[in-house]
Amino acid sequence: MHPVEDIRGVKSTILLNKKIILGVTGSIAAVETVKLARELIRHGADVIPVMTFAATKIIHPDSLWFATGNKPVVELTGKTEHVSFCGRVSEPVDLVLISPCTANTISKISHGIDDTPVTTFATTAIGSDIPIIVVPAMHLSMYDHKIVQENIQKCKEIGIKFVEPAIVGSKAKLASTENIVANVLRHAGRKDLKNKKILIIGGATAEPIDDIRIITNRSSGKTAVNLAKNAFFRGADVTLWYGLSRVTIPEYIKIIGFETVNDLVKMGKNIKKYDVIILCAAVSDYILDKKKGKIPSGKDKLVLELRPAPKFISTLRKNAPKSKITGFKVEGNKNKLNEKAFELLKKNNLDFVVANTISGFNSDENEIWIIDKKNKTIHKQGKKQYLADHILDVIT
Ligand SMILES: Cc1cc2nc3c(=O)[nH]c(=O)nc-3n(C[C@H](O)[C@H](O)[C@H](O)COP(=O)(O)O)c2cc1C
Repeated sequence: MHPVEDIRGVKSTILLNKKIILGVTGSIAAVETVKLARELIRHGADVIPVMTFAATKIIHPDSLWFATGNKPVVELTGKTEHVSFCGRVSEPVDLVLISPCTANTISKISHGIDDTPVTTFATTAIGSDIPIIVVPAMHLSMYDHKIVQENIQKCKEIGIKFVEPAIVGSKAKLASTENIVANVLRHAGRKDLKNKKILIIGGATAEPIDDIRIITNRSSGKTAVNLAKNAFFRGADVTLWYGLSRVTIPEYIKIIGFETVNDLVKMGKNIKKYDVIILCAAVSDYILDKKKGKIPSGKDKLVLELRPAPKFISTLRKNAPKSKITGFKVEGNKNKLNEKAFELLKKNNLDFVVANTISGFNSDENEIWIIDKKNKTIHKQGKKQYLADHILDVIT
């Protein structure tokens, strides 16, 4: 058994039984492909490397052979490798990922020119309707070339997906491995949420006491980020409204920030367009009038007067009459949790409520009960990453 089997599927099984061509071209970023290939394998994929001659001068094919367990295709032979993997055959590959992709290879693909193994695989894949993801990497002067940009557009027009480079100084740098993998999961994975517009509202509100201090809560925002990531992997058009949080949000998620309950109430007026709305933010129950500047320190006593916050959750159904809306209910103990969660559902005319206890706050694990309009309950326990998929299965 090749040692690659030790890591196959250890992160997820989303790409299990999926064959992915990893086209590597002559950019210095080719040195990143060992890591990239291994990460795809950790999600279950079978990765077949295909390299241009220029790529083999930057990274030796043996590195990718070891990394993937598959001998890289570095030239086309009498086996007609491009046809057996990407032609109209009984079991074509699921996706062609070209990472890194040079200006040269992009321009050739856009003109239907194929004079390297990577471009011939691309031409064949395009004709067979196999999805292609291109991840450009080059000096900014090459990327800004008007004709290279036109060629990128041409590729996009025929349905080739791009993972955009990060413009740093004079470079159009290869996107992060995390971002590339997320896009592969999205285009080669389940795709069951494709075309669904999903709004996830997560993190903690922060109510200002003065210009410096805030009142907030211990919500980590992890549930929201896991829901957003998994919905993205499953093809949804995801928007995350995000308050205060301790979690780094992946760059491929569209984010709009909020701070206070009143920010949410204002933003909530325009949510009709979403098919699914998930409110898992920890929204403050109490607000106060903000003082200008900084309340001086050193006082003997400081009394803050709080008053009930507007109930954001109660505005959702009115603003999004046709959306599937899910709320979250957190309680200190389990005793009356489900009863209170169902009350919340009824009172706000929600479709689902996910009930959980405060033990899940700021933790990677949680115990949840998903309750529907008929008070039917599904109980799940485990890592938030997996719970996110269970929640999406039920509520979308
Ligand atoms: C060390 C080195 C690094 C290079 N890096 C890049 C790059 O990041 N992007 C790019 O478009 N070309 C880069 N080039 C130029 C390409 O290798 C050259 O255009 C080559 O013809 C590309 O061939 P290919 O597209 O068939 O791989 C680099 C060349 C060398 C020698």
